[in-house]
Amino acid sequence: MNIPQLIDFTEASLDAAFASVRNEAEAAVAAPGFEAEQFRLEWLGRKQGHLKAISDAWLKAAPPEAKKLIGQRFNALKEQVEGFLIAASAGAVVKPASAGLDVTLPGSSQRVGVEHPLVKTMAEIVGVFQRMGYSVGLGPEVESDFYNFEALNFPPNHPARDTQDTLVVAEQEGKPLRERLLMRTHTSPVQIRSMLEQAPPLRLVIPGKVHRNDAADATHSPVFHQVEGLCVDTNITFSDLKGTLDHAMKAFFGSAVKTRFFPSFFPFTEPSADVQISCIFCGGKGCRKCKYSGWIELLGCGMVDPAVFEAVNQRRIELGHDPVYDTRRISGFAFGMGVDRIAMMKYGISDIGLLYSGDMRFLEQFA
Ligand code: PHE
Repeated sequence: MNIPQLIDFTEASLDAAFASVRNEAEAAVAAPGFEAEQFRLEWLGRKQGHLKAISDAWLKAAPPEAKKLIGQRFNALKEQVEGFLIAASAGAVVKPASAGLDVTLPGSSQRVGVEHPLVKTMAEIVGVFQRMGYSVGLGPEVESDFYNFEALNFPPNHPARDTQDTLVVAEQEGKPLRERLLMRTHTSPVQIRSMLEQAPPLRLVIPGKVHRNDAADATHSPVFHQVEGLCVDTNITFSDLKGTLDHAMKAFFGSAVKTRFFPSFFPFTEPSADVQISCIFCGGKGCRKCKYSGWIELLGCGMVDPAVFEAVNQRRIELGHDPVYDTRRISGFAFGMGVDRIAMMKYGISDIGLLYSGDMRFLEQFA
């Protein structure tokens, strides 16, 4: 491409110079034999591309007082050229403004979006519980220490907090610890928020995004997703928890799936359990996916610790509500599962990072 030297730095003449380059790019996209990768190299190539040449000839060489005007126009031009390439690659027909309307050309297609695999998985899990009469609750991702930890029976400095390190909002040292804000490390704080708003009975699932200071690798991401569950009423027992989760796993993974429960620990449930399902890949015989154990660990759960009900009652009193979670009458269970792992199992995704890459080549496979 022939790039003339800029001599006149008035806005009008800069506009004209940039418009002519823009028209050339537009024409190149509409030309017969257009090929996206070739266009990208020719126009946007870092070393040899036309835009690089224009940046050198017009922007870098400009007198200081014209730099701003040229810079703005250069950025706009770059966006336009990138836009042409994206539109052309997506199958849209780009026609130079000067060409007349050619009704024989195929129409420009508007591509329809689809659900992200994580959103889809989350909706399916939530659907299983909705069909059992659960409602859906949501809570904020930026949470206070009180809801994320204290009310869930993680006292200040309790070692269980170390397992859920996270980002905290800066410059809050002046506030009492319970009011300080952080990125929630689990969806469990929404248990507390829900019980503050509602008296028992209560049955809800809470899907959402959570954050932890975990180094990213194939199975860990500092941002991930959970579906939380909470069921509170009179006479709720551990058998209800087992029956509910066993049904949910069968409904989601297929009726052949078995569940088993192991003792575990969470500060806000007592007793607590980890739940495993029989390996959905080998049916329990043992394979690479289940590390030859026949089982896959899927979620944490337990009976709501009375200390949690007490924290809710106390906060309800502070807020002027009745303390209706009477621990002599009321019991409940809670569970929390990682959505990312479930989506990875379901779709055979080997690297969690793909779910957050925004790479269309990956995402299109779920369309
Ligand atoms: N919030 C727990 C976690 O993120 C999971 C959990 C939820 C455990 C509810 C028990 C009950 O590790």
